[in-house]
Amino acid sequence: MATIKDVAKVAGVSVATVSRVLNSNGYVNVDTKKRVDQAIEQLNYRPNDVARALFKGRSKMIALFVPDIMNPFFPELARAVEDITNKNDYTFVLCNTDDNLEKVLTYMDALQQKSVDGIIIVSSTITAESLKRINVPVIALDRIFSSELSTVTVDNYQGARKATEYLIGLGCQRIAHISGPINASNAKNRLQGYLDIVSDEDWFLPSYVASGSFNLQKAKDVATELLMNHPELDGIFAANDVMGIGAMKAAESLGIHVPNDLSVIAFDGITMGEMATPSLTTMEQPIYDMGARAAEMLIEQINDQKLSRKNEAFSVQLVERQSTKRKRDMNE
Ligand code: RIB
Repeated sequence: MATIKDVAKVAGVSVATVSRVLNSNGYVNVDTKKRVDQAIEQLNYRPNDVARALFKGRSKMIALFVPDIMNPFFPELARAVEDITNKNDYTFVLCNTDDNLEKVLTYMDALQQKSVDGIIIVSSTITAESLKRINVPVIALDRIFSSELSTVTVDNYQGARKATEYLIGLGCQRIAHISGPINASNAKNRLQGYLDIVSDEDWFLPSYVASGSFNLQKAKDVATELLMNHPELDGIFAANDVMGIGAMKAAESLGIHVPNDLSVIAFDGITMGEMATPSLTTMEQPIYDMGARAAEMLIEQINDQKLSRKNEAFSVQLVERQSTKRKRDMNE
């Protein structure tokens, strides 16, 4: 394989001149540049990425940190980030952090040693202190964990209000919420949206809340407990789709029919919700658009690090499927 020295020899110039041509920095006269370009083509020379990263302090690499690769929401998000980064000639690295600060810090240090150009982070555990260790542009995606960073999110509060209002509109009067981890900003906002609707003076309904940690099994366990302790429940709003599926599984194992006895709505709009039986009604997030926008914003920041902070919040939309049903229809 040809080296930079071979190129210099064929072009009849120094290695430093070839390097200046490759990195487009410093003056090189037009004829010399032409000779170097011809030598590169003739030798089919491919500059070594590691060497270039060391020289320029850039690797043309972007990383995405996600808290749970097992949750289909995140591969769907990652797909969009990958598409946009690839389109802009960046390579893409996916890091699963389990929302564990130790893992986050280990990945952060390793990536910075490889001169990563920027990082998109979905996290609820990163501290302000640990953010100081990052010296490349960062975008917070889906969850807000610092007021200093540009963010791409959805309107979680309004989405949760609409989900709860939708169940009330179906005739549900005893609605439970299965929340995400309370340290996640979006879980907190979804919980608040639910509480504000059930406690609204127009309705004044009792509230039932249990934490399912955005996890299917945990949601199934807490839903089983809720349904056993509160047989009066006629609606569940789960803070994400995998927990919605967990709640439906819990109902099934207790002989409670969804949607005849219990309506279930969730939040996300992952493909798995469509495939569940019954298919899951949800507040759909524009997952692909969120990932794509975060990647675009990161690339803009890499190219111009002085860009001011931006917060973009998409809206969510109701997708009605088989897991919810109007109560007055139930006796038909
Ligand atoms: O399903 C994963 C959840 O965690 C989603 O609701 C998403 O918004 C994320 O924070």
